[in-house]
Amino acid sequence: MKISFAAQRPAGSYALAIPVRSEDMLGDRLQGFDDSARTLAARAAEAQRFERETASVAEVFVPEGEGARRLLVVGLGARKDEEALYERVGGALTARLLVSGETKLVVDVSGLGLNGEEAARIGFGAAARGWRYDNYRTKLPRKQKPSLEEVVIVGAGDGADQAWGDKAALLEGLSFTRELVTEPANIIYPASFVERCRKRMEPLGVEFEVLDEDAMRELGMGALLGVSLGSEQPARLLAMRWNGGEAGGKPLVFVGKGVTFDTGGISIKPAAGMEAMKWDMGGAGAVAGAMLTLAGRKAKANVVGICGLVENMPDGKAQRPGDVVTSMSGQTIEVINTDAEGRLVLCDAISWAQRKYKPETIVDLATLTGAMIISLGHEYAGMFANDDGLAQQLVAASTASGDKLWRMPLGDAYDKLIESPIADMKNVGPREGGSITAAVFIQRFVEEGVKWAHLDIAGMVWSDKAKHLFDKGATGFGVALLDRFVAANYEG
Ligand code: BES
Ligand code: ZN
Ligand code: ZN
Repeated sequence: MKISFAAQRPAGSYALAIPVRSEDMLGDRLQGFDDSARTLAARAAEAQRFERETASVAEVFVPEGEGARRLLVVGLGARKDEEALYERVGGALTARLLVSGETKLVVDVSGLGLNGEEAARIGFGAAARGWRYDNYRTKLPRKQKPSLEEVVIVGAGDGADQAWGDKAALLEGLSFTRELVTEPANIIYPASFVERCRKRMEPLGVEFEVLDEDAMRELGMGALLGVSLGSEQPARLLAMRWNGGEAGGKPLVFVGKGVTFDTGGISIKPAAGMEAMKWDMGGAGAVAGAMLTLAGRKAKANVVGICGLVENMPDGKAQRPGDVVTSMSGQTIEVINTDAEGRLVLCDAISWAQRKYKPETIVDLATLTGAMIISLGHEYAGMFANDDGLAQQLVAASTASGDKLWRMPLGDAYDKLIESPIADMKNVGPREGGSITAAVFIQRFVEEGVKWAHLDIAGMVWSDKAKHLFDKGATGFGVALLDRFVAANYEG
């Protein structure tokens, strides 16, 4: 979707959107239309029970010259500080118009006193909500094809174009994450995930390092490789490095769970709904999208994005429940349940990250546990952190970005629950507190002095319902959060 900004309404045919706040007189906001058009619009809005609630829309065709124009009045609600207000307004307009037949939308904010940043946020919402992936639809009926191509925002203050530069980079990253998450597992597997990232990011100056299974064996990554045993698709460990900050500075490290398909392995999952496990690489997808965003906007920070990429399959060669594996850290793990594979991938990826980059801070993202969805549903991702300052920074980034986080506990009492009679630990605890025992498992691999946060995003990567900024499907959760976290804490 093309987004641009202008001082005046353009000439020609397009749908026109007029935002209205609770306290505005609708008639005042409809200046430029003649009296009969204004009366018509006001009546139509009332008849549609339009009450200016945030992102509510009423629609009417008004005569204009020889023809008619589609006019949308869109609510701005009563509170200017409402969370993601402008993004939601943009998203609501796209949701209305995407397949409407209209190709162009003009949003006229003249007289509302919006600054450039706020206007850019309307554009961002409109574009984010318009993302779709129709590559595999060869028979999409004409009426279901997106028609809306362009949004022009008219009458905002200065700086919209500048603000848009960063938003456009975020949009690229968000779209890339959604694409990776949406692709089925026969298309995106460890090696193809790497190549897709490389194609997008190497031209922007992101440095790539990729470990194959031999290299990982050499390093002793028995936990990650154990997960991969049952798969025909060889595992990869991918590191994407963006050096936008001071030379020699220690990088911030993001680590993503990239299980490109999770059957559960020998502890196989039930058939119903298993197709969802193509998005068990959503953590790695978010890390990749965040790296693309940072490179796209030339962030002034040193950041490394690491993705542990494996496919978890049942097979004669697959690991068995009860197997004991040795992780890169030297710690041994009894694999009670082969479906608790994400932590086995993350522990070796985190050990490698620490040895290689000596980071002060690591944030990992993973679709780690179904229990997380039981706890928080689809509203918040769970955040576990060993440092209060880091937790605060992440919560602040979460509020600012709309990618919501809720802090969860860690602690020795939970840690005891993963003791094993045969090895240093087992990979699952009891059913109760399943997300927390998963987190304390990972914590055992975080070295002394390293600030670490683990984001369990199992409930956030995919949505069965359309919301303000996405259609049904991949949400792109985490990209805006990580981008915001870097901007607020590492570019100062
Ligand atoms: N990828 C799943 C977690 C998951 C489940 C994410 C549903 C999104 C939706 C993970 O690998 C898994 O299977 N976890 C198990 C752990 C259990 C065996 C301790 C789970 O949550 O059931
Ligand atoms: Zn699993
Ligand atoms: Zn999994």
